[in-house]
Amino acid sequence: MGLRFTLAITGASGSAFGVAALRRMSASPLVDQVALLLSPTGKRCLLDETGLTPKDLAALPKVSLRDERDLGADISSGSHRHDGMAILPCSAGALGRIASGVSETLVSRAADVCLKERRPLVLCLRETPLNRIHLENMLRVHDAGAVVMPIMPGFYSGPKGLDDLFDTFATRVLDQLGLPEADSRRWKG
Ligand SMILES: Cc1cc2nc3c(=O)[nH]c(=O)nc-3n(C[C@H](O)[C@H](O)[C@H](O)COP(=O)(O)O)c2cc1C
Repeated sequence: MGLRFTLAITGASGSAFGVAALRRMSASPLVDQVALLLSPTGKRCLLDETGLTPKDLAALPKVSLRDERDLGADISSGSHRHDGMAILPCSAGALGRIASGVSETLVSRAADVCLKERRPLVLCLRETPLNRIHLENMLRVHDAGAVVMPIMPGFYSGPKGLDDLFDTFATRVLDQLGLPEADSRRWKG
């Protein structure tokens, strides 16, 4: 059986980073399935910033949409096996819900399940500047087992444009999920 991942896009700027990660997961021969979920504001940001709809993303191979309101979805249960979840971008609101264990949406419930089942959870926060609550919440989720990976693309690979930046950051997220890819943009020393 191939790898199965969950990717969530929440209501923060930078949904193009999430789309880049999703495209790479979808194209990977190692991946069997990607469960995609978007918060309501995540859908809005996706449309505003990329012109894409959830339906467009669900048309990618191996990607299937989950309804954010459906707390009975497969990824809501620890008995459903998968290989990890990334929230990209992750809003400060989503971070706060996860940090305080408030599992009232499918995004926060699926993340909560990853933490309790000790599965990889990568939270790509996008907010600036950061207040004390954000900083404390980052530490809380870190201590609970999540990888806190704010959207901070590297420039050492000599990006030729925004797509290069999206892809380089997406590669680093996939590394954290255990989906390593050959990538010409990796630092060679
Ligand atoms: C256009 C737009 C852009 C936003 N950008 C951000 C952002 O970059 N970071 C953030 O933490 N919140 C941002 N917000 C606010 C969140 O979307 C809001 O707090 C929301 O309740 C988060 O919930 P969600 O995580 O379920 O999407 C933005 C909202 C809108 C409408």
